[in-house]
Amino acid sequence: MNITLKVNGQSRTVDVPSDMPLLWVLRDELDLKGTKFGCGVAQCGACTVHVNGAATRSCVLPAAAIQGAEVVTIEGLSSDGTHALQRAWDELDVPQCGYCQAGQIMSAAGLLARNPKPTDADIDAAMNGNLCRCATYLRIRQGIHRAAELMVAPTPEGASRDGGVQS
Ligand code: FES
Ligand code: FES
Repeated sequence: MNITLKVNGQSRTVDVPSDMPLLWVLRDELDLKGTKFGCGVAQCGACTVHVNGAATRSCVLPAAAIQGAEVVTIEGLSSDGTHALQRAWDELDVPQCGYCQAGQIMSAAGLLARNPKPTDADIDAAMNGNLCRCATYLRIRQGIHRAAELMVAPTPEGASRDGGVQS
């Protein structure tokens, strides 16, 4: 079936089976490889993207459910890698192998959009479904706190305060 959706601010049309998960629409049809496959059953968070503003597991969302949706992937979080979370991740060297980190950042971005100053408990609750084989959980938590600070601090020249999701 033909599906038209907006991905990272651009209108895209794909011809895919109605049950193809959004993850494969992104990776195989649109060549957006930043979003990762982990478990395939909504249990690890590696495939997290934003759908209509909400952090969503793309591995279990069928194409038929995304007709007309607005999707943001890690590639679209900011145009130049200067979203507060990306700057914080870089500053604190959050990733280890990196495999889970796109999903971690997209879940964290969803959290900060709802709650710009989360507590440790807020972070733990929001990030609970994002697994990391390398156990970077403490740095992820520190990174989210740091990003929350950066989002209210004066921005360096050329950097976007909230990431400026492309539209
Ligand atoms: S690959 Fe989607 S939650 Fe694990
Ligand atoms: S950094 Fe390796 S799985 Fe999370």
